Amino acid sequence: MPKLTIDGKEIEAPAGTNLIQAAASAGIEIPHYCYHPALTVVGNCRMCLVEVEKAPKLQIACNTAVADGMVVHTKSERTKAAQRAVLEFLLINHPIDCPVCDQAGECKLQDYYMDYDLQNSRFPLGRKNLKGKAMDIGSGVMLDQERCILCARCTRFFDEVTHTSELAIFERADGDRVEHWPGREVDNKYAGNVVDICPVGALTEKEFRFRARVWYLHRTPSVCGGCERGCSIDIYHHRGRIYRLKPRQNPEVNGYWMCDEGRHGFPALQSETRLTAPLVQSRDRLVSEAWDSSIRRATSRIAEAITAGGAGSVGAVVGAQATNEEAFALKRLMSEAIGSELIAGLSFTPAGLSGDDGLLIRANKNPNSRGLAALGLDDAGLQRLKQAVAAGQLKLLIAMRADLVRALGEEDFARDFGALDYLVVLDTDANETCQMANQVLPIAAYPEVDGSFTNFKGRVQLLERAFDPPGQAIPAIEVIARISAALGRTQSPRSAEAVFSAMASLEPAFKGLSLAKLGPHGADLAK
Ligand code: SF4
Ligand code: SF4
Ligand code: FES
Repeated sequence: MPKLTIDGKEIEAPAGTNLIQAAASAGIEIPHYCYHPALTVVGNCRMCLVEVEKAPKLQIACNTAVADGMVVHTKSERTKAAQRAVLEFLLINHPIDCPVCDQAGECKLQDYYMDYDLQNSRFPLGRKNLKGKAMDIGSGVMLDQERCILCARCTRFFDEVTHTSELAIFERADGDRVEHWPGREVDNKYAGNVVDICPVGALTEKEFRFRARVWYLHRTPSVCGGCERGCSIDIYHHRGRIYRLKPRQNPEVNGYWMCDEGRHGFPALQSETRLTAPLVQSRDRLVSEAWDSSIRRATSRIAEAITAGGAGSVGAVVGAQATNEEAFALKRLMSEAIGSELIAGLSFTPAGLSGDDGLLIRANKNPNSRGLAALGLDDAGLQRLKQAVAAGQLKLLIAMRADLVRALGEEDFARDFGALDYLVVLDTDANETCQMANQVLPIAAYPEVDGSFTNFKGRVQLLERAFDPPGQAIPAIEVIARISAALGRTQSPRSAEAVFSAMASLEPAFKGLSLAKLGPHGADLAK
């Protein structure tokens, strides 16, 4: 491995590594705009100029590979002068937009001006070159041409990642500008990524514009629940509301990107339909009741069913929106506290959604089908449940995150499950199955719990609780633990860590794993 010196620090870096990456590995920042590790190197912004001993002139760090014996200075007077000159040049025509720009707080022009420039403009304000502002260029992306520094990250993303090439840089000199081709708009399922990689406020997200200053938002690492890919994401939130989702780099799952369906899917997690109190059917209406009576009621109906028809008169179904921990806790409740093996998984994808596209998007819109399968909870179990109802054996069903009415259709649901005596639903939102339920127990959605999802390749990834669930909703594993305790098993674990560790000791697929061990990129299921 080549050995070099950067700012007096001796560094070893694999051959082929560029100076930006090599310096970053030693905690040294080399400012840059156009370089992005997942795109080709174009070297057009010149912000990364550094002094390399024995080289006749300054070199761009993004396109200079490490070499044995190389000596690099990122803070020498020559380097600093180049950085100031580049910033002055980039800012000549930049509008004074910071007070009304959504990039403020995470803008690399602002940041680098403070860190590497700090000089007054020598250019008269009134002479700035005016270009297009607030242009809706399609797919929820807004373009401000005056703010653009022509780094070509966006054009390269559309050329190299989506291969749709909607944007290009037109004209020359100070008239040059990013624009879509005449008669064509940005139209692809990954367009939001150009907003993420634009280093300035030239590309912004239509839905996020003017909604929140970024310094008010908290960031919690999580996993997208939009499909079985399970892209690593960051949830940006404030006071229990999500404002935006952004991809989190994970070489094992999604690289640097996420799709727009996942990015814009979060309103469904905080809609008006969220369940906020336990409900019970009374005179053909669902009315709210306290958690204590709700748990007592559900438990006594379970106990009555067992007394009348044995443990096999109780069954459960869990949807693949549930976390690994929730699915395992329900499975354990069924096998240990109730004594029934009648439990099924349900992966349901509504018709009309996008199919596998070879990039990230998957046709299966459930984030945890593989996790359920690893626990032996697949859709085949549903057939067993239907047969048990038809045979008059199964009388009480617990449906957790499983909208059976939507998945089967009203008629088939009535045919297959209409003979049940009692239906208990644990869910996040009021859905058609809730309308059929005797009891509805409100549970937390995935941004509101600790836990994990397993993606279709068997990568188990960590979910961190970003904020509390609304109203009286509580995590599903807490509901299951309360039912379990009321049935006489007081030892049911209530934290995601404890449930995961029980799962790792009892389920071969999760052997050797723990929530703490998953780390930011997750870990593979045991083979
Ligand atoms: S719009 Fe943003 S990403 Fe595209 S060239 Fe301009 S500054 Fe770069
Ligand atoms: S590909 Fe799937 S998991 Fe990734 S962002 Fe899109 S919907 Fe979410
Ligand atoms: S990052 Fe090296 S020239 Fe732009």
